[in-house]
Amino acid sequence: MGRVLVTRRLPDGGLDPLAAHELVGPNADDAPFPPAELRAHAAEVDGIVCVLTDRIDGDLLKAGAAGRLRVVANVAVGYDNIDVVAAREHGIVVCNTPGVLDDTTADLAFALILAASRLLHDAEADLRAVRWQGWGITQYLGQDVHDATLGIVGYGRIGRAVARRASGFDMRVLHYARADTGEPGFVADLDDLLRESDIVTLHVPGGEATRHLIDARRLALMKPTAVLVNTARGPVVDEEALADALYSGRLFAAGLDVFEHEPLVSERLLHAPRTVLLPHIGSASQATRTQMARLASSAVGTVLAGGTPPNVVG
Ligand code: DGY
Repeated sequence: MGRVLVTRRLPDGGLDPLAAHELVGPNADDAPFPPAELRAHAAEVDGIVCVLTDRIDGDLLKAGAAGRLRVVANVAVGYDNIDVVAAREHGIVVCNTPGVLDDTTADLAFALILAASRLLHDAEADLRAVRWQGWGITQYLGQDVHDATLGIVGYGRIGRAVARRASGFDMRVLHYARADTGEPGFVADLDDLLRESDIVTLHVPGGEATRHLIDARRLALMKPTAVLVNTARGPVVDEEALADALYSGRLFAAGLDVFEHEPLVSERLLHAPRTVLLPHIGSASQATRTQMARLASSAVGTVLAGGTPPNVVG
């Protein structure tokens, strides 16, 4: 039996795999632990189950390693909040939650593709504000999703799940990945994919390697009728450049579930035209979030029992 820090409240049943262990946290009001408190806890536990808003940095891992910390499991597939290199140096195993959230996140990406392309937010906002004066033939003219060319940036599990949905809309699907997938629709140059696509959806991991992958230059390559959807990580897109493109009409629309400085969203984006904004809910279904929590908890249990879980990263 070990001692495990659980940083935030998890869906019911999510901690079942850790039933035999002593749990520390979360705070009664589910408030995030401030960094110093998180560090102090890390020095006194064998494992941590954390979420993507917890910064698991070098200092925390050093404090943990000086104690007895052996494993950190993020209840997310992305792990850009964890210093994986430092964890490796300290012999601390890092785990994530791959596989269980692909379809739920792809559903959300597709919802944003539809909502942004068809201007659902603008139309609904007018209706709710009682600004709608009646049907008009030139109102809310969006872009068609069916038959459009969809550019998928990052062709891992979630990107592929989006591609499967696109086939039901008779879309032409292109994809970009760092290594040639050898599959139909592969485009070796991201710039070419951006030039050709009517809708671009991002599914790359976060971190330095993908920071501002979509910047002002690349936004300028996109068609003025194009739609950009981001359910990956906020920093993948230069938000200022995106706001410029939306205000100037250089880009038709955007659907965003993630932001550069969450939970802050820039004023310009908040008021940008033809934009659908969501508070990072890609994997937020009851079933999926429960599975994610169970997978992360179970990985911690496996490491503390001396095993190696399948979902180790880094
Ligand atoms: C992830 O898993 O990385 C998502 O962003 C949160 O569900």
